[in-house]
Amino acid sequence: MKNITLASFGVPDIDAALEQRIMRSAQKLHDGTGEGAESRGWMSLPVDYDQQEFARIKEVAAHVRDNAEVFITIGIGGSYLGSKAVICALEDTFAQGPGPKMVFAGNQLSSAYMQDLLMFIQDKSVYLNVISKSGTTLEPALAFRLLRNALEAKYGEDGARERIFVTTDAHKGALKSLAAEKGYETFVVPDDIGGRYSALTAVGLLPIAVSGIDIDSLMAGARAAMTLYSQPYAHNDCYQYSALRSALYEDGKKIEILVGYEPSLHYVGEWWKQLFGESEGKDGKGLYPSSMQFTTDLHSLGQYVQQGERRLFETVLYVEDSGARIAIPEDSGNHDGLHYLVGKTLDDANTAARKGVRAAHLGGDVPQISISVPQKNAYYLGQLLYFFEKACAVSAYTLGVNPFNQPGVEAYKKQMFTLLGKEH
Ligand code: PA5
Repeated sequence: MKNITLASFGVPDIDAALEQRIMRSAQKLHDGTGEGAESRGWMSLPVDYDQQEFARIKEVAAHVRDNAEVFITIGIGGSYLGSKAVICALEDTFAQGPGPKMVFAGNQLSSAYMQDLLMFIQDKSVYLNVISKSGTTLEPALAFRLLRNALEAKYGEDGARERIFVTTDAHKGALKSLAAEKGYETFVVPDDIGGRYSALTAVGLLPIAVSGIDIDSLMAGARAAMTLYSQPYAHNDCYQYSALRSALYEDGKKIEILVGYEPSLHYVGEWWKQLFGESEGKDGKGLYPSSMQFTTDLHSLGQYVQQGERRLFETVLYVEDSGARIAIPEDSGNHDGLHYLVGKTLDDANTAARKGVRAAHLGGDVPQISISVPQKNAYYLGQLLYFFEKACAVSAYTLGVNPFNQPGVEAYKKQMFTLLGKEH
């Protein structure tokens, strides 16, 4: 079976000293001697997870798929981006499949969004999953209060109870207490796994399973990654990716752009930004993680990438086999001047764009790392999530920061709560 593969273009050579630093970071991560070591539960998750809960996730998902028209995932940051990334990557872009429509809420405070959602669900069969490890985050807590009220008004308290699932800490937090009081079925965010590393726990798995994606395959891909990315440096694309981006950072690059050539991978970029942004951006350090969709953004930000400030590099994420075969048809008049493309496919055009962009951007001093995914399916998404999680933790240790905390996130909350009159 093929695996995700890594290549690089225009990146400075990785010297022995950097390779050793990367391996020391990896060692720290493995033996638990780095900061935040108590949050490394995600590392062994592909082989060490709660099998009973996993089976229950599948049962609940099957029931919900049979009965729901809409499934709402309430959560913010690490509590929704993993599932949204996988679901958006694998769902049909246009057609609504046999399961419920997957909707996300509680990841902002927009009243217009909530009003539209409340209207939308009025005449539909609705189930929801509220996800918050702390159980106190304002955005999901508020959305849950509003949507819980809507469900209770529609189905009564008992009916709503059948439709509400809570994913939170096993022991503590306001959401845990509320779930116990109301009798909601609960799933656990393990103590040793933080939000942005939780995509392969119930946090990600329940919504992903409800959407109809095979979570066994997802875990199998992560399992393969766990073995692959524990190999020595020379055979380890994950460590090599950490080394490449560290080398670029130390060479003066400050922005890493995750570039996708498949629009359905947009939310993989959003998940990746959160993972790296919250893990590395501290103590005045860290690459700024950004994302772009090509070729779309070549007609907007592409100008900047080619000729703006030279502080960025690209990490290109592309799918080797799109699974689609769109041949470019004959047109006897050749009025659009595209005759030279006849016999080729749309994928040929996308590949030529990717290679052409690489040459052009290298010419503009934009180095590239490339990560190729054999196919877009649950197995490779599991592999990819694990790849990035481990690369991120290794990179953060190499940078000298704790990959598992996010102290800066508190600053806005403090200001907001003061303005809202919350008692401290
Ligand atoms: O990665 C993280 O830890 C954060 O992004 C959290 O996931 C986010 O702040 C939501 O927190 P909670 O699940 O406690 O509501």
